[in-house]
Amino acid sequence: MKIMDFRSDTVTKPSEEMRRIMASAEVGDDIYGDDPSSNALSKYAAELTGKEAAIYTCSGTMGNLLAFLSAGRHGESLLAGKRSHIWNAEVGGFSAVAGLCPYPLNDDEGIPKVEDIAPANRADNNIHHPDTTILCLENTHNYTGGIAVAPKRFAEVAREGHRLGFHVHLDGARIFNASVYHGVDVKVFTEEVDSVQFCLSKGLGAPMGSMLCGSHEFIEKAKKARKRIGGAQRQVGIAAAAGLFALKNNIGRLSEDHDNAKLLCELLIKGGVHVEEVPNMTNMIFFPMLEDYPSDESFVSGCKERGLLLNALSPRRIRLVTHLDVNREDVERAAGIILEVISQ
Ligand SMILES: Cc1ncc(COP(=O)(O)O)c(C=O)c1O
Repeated sequence: MKIMDFRSDTVTKPSEEMRRIMASAEVGDDIYGDDPSSNALSKYAAELTGKEAAIYTCSGTMGNLLAFLSAGRHGESLLAGKRSHIWNAEVGGFSAVAGLCPYPLNDDEGIPKVEDIAPANRADNNIHHPDTTILCLENTHNYTGGIAVAPKRFAEVAREGHRLGFHVHLDGARIFNASVYHGVDVKVFTEEVDSVQFCLSKGLGAPMGSMLCGSHEFIEKAKKARKRIGGAQRQVGIAAAAGLFALKNNIGRLSEDHDNAKLLCELLIKGGVHVEEVPNMTNMIFFPMLEDYPSDESFVSGCKERGLLLNALSPRRIRLVTHLDVNREDVERAAGIILEVISQ
């Protein structure tokens, strides 16, 4: 039985071609700055995002953390959405490691409202307040349903952050899903922010790694921070070559993942499932577990027995993610399995 893995777009495996490129990658010691494949990837990522420089990081979590370590200082305040990934799924690194004091914003629409930014700013010379120095945005926005925040809305919020003097960081783990969805160059988003982290290991299909992009000065600081937290690597070109291949070959095809997610959504709705319909949906589908269904676990294991892997992301909320290792046929089969398990 073929196992179809819809738990996340992180489950993609490197293709044969990607593996060949990895095997023949030119490598050197990246800490000495002489790994040609890592350097080529950084140069390409910086150009793609319109930034002066970039560095390779082990993961998206590390890329975000390096941004906070480089742009903030212990005791300062970070503004971030309550439903953001950094808040909910990065083990509190921004405060545990970077020493930042978080201030929550409502991001139910995938991004905070412009009018909520200034009142959250505590850089107001009040002796009781930590200075607010960083605003973190996320696009696409995972926990609200993979919403691709539209360019205009994104720019308004980022510009408000700049008006208030903040460093604006974008957790752009899936920023290419957003640019492909809206049919715009990724720079439309990245040029509005001071730094951006994006993942190579999600829909783009590389086995590991993320990029952090920003000014020369910022990236020099991030390099030191990366070394300090033990994230600098030696012959990293083997992995970087896969990242470069992913960036050059796998961005355009993200629209197929969006089409597949749309089809899955339609099939489930047709079968009576109350899928969370969000605006600008990309490659994720969320639906609440039926109230009379015994438990999330029994639902997940019922699907697994039939060859479908999916995630109960939070209690009574199921998530499926489309990616380059699942096709239209898988989507049709997945919908059938879900409807069958639900009906039992
Ligand atoms: C929006 C977002 N940001 C950051 C990350 C962290 O990436 P990683 O798992 O590579 O640390 C994820 C992972 O799913 C994510 O969805």
